[in-house]
Amino acid sequence: MGSTLSVRLFEEADAAPLTELLHAAYAELGAAGLNYTAVDQDVATTRDRALGGRCWVVELEGRIVGSLTMSLPPSAGLQELTAVAREEHRAWVNQVAVAPSLRGRGIAADLWRRGREWAAGQGALSIGVDTAHPATHLVQLYRSWGFVEVDSIHWPGKTYDSVVMLRPHGKDGR
Ligand SMILES: CC(C)(COP(=O)(O)OP(=O)(O)OC[C@H]1O[C@@H](n2cnc3c(N)ncnc32)[C@H](O)[C@@H]1OP(=O)(O)O)[C@@H](O)C(=O)NCCC(=O)NCCS
Repeated sequence: MGSTLSVRLFEEADAAPLTELLHAAYAELGAAGLNYTAVDQDVATTRDRALGGRCWVVELEGRIVGSLTMSLPPSAGLQELTAVAREEHRAWVNQVAVAPSLRGRGIAADLWRRGREWAAGQGALSIGVDTAHPATHLVQLYRSWGFVEVDSIHWPGKTYDSVVMLRPHGKDGR
């Protein structure tokens, strides 16, 4: 990451600018017909989802340009949809976004490292994620992070089925 980028924990005042980042980052998914919640969620939803776990934001010159939330345990809504999310000691990756102009610099990878180290420190033994089946580039990204497909779900109101992926911690707890 460049020297002017900094990472810190989410604060309530970040909800509006984080919503703007999410809309900008997820616009390409919306344009592809994938109505992820983050395509058009309101500020209160952003705040609730961020506070539903541990949320990091990346700042560049006072602007939020990246974010990831790690939820432990996974949300109640997700737990209703899949037994995978009901396992003890399981964390979940949510609201991953990087500004379109800053892609491919390892910002998401850095947030993912922070998220999984935090989860391990909290006693999580594995981490899950879900994403749209048709978003094959994202399924591939999560595979490259060590996740494997374990289930398929359908979130109410979504245009797509979601793949549920799981990543056990390595022997070093990471
Ligand atoms: C997915 C996303 C968070 C990745 O952020 P990122 O900071 O660009 O990711 P990184 O730089 O850490 O790279 C991770 C991988 O993403 C891939 N990638 C994604 N977009 C890329 C781009 N525009 N340029 C280069 N690589 C890109 C690379 O293959 C890279 O793999 P590598 O580590 O083997 O090189 C970002 O593309 C994004 O915000 N997308 C829209 C929102 C979204 O899809 N969220 C996830 C929903 S489940």
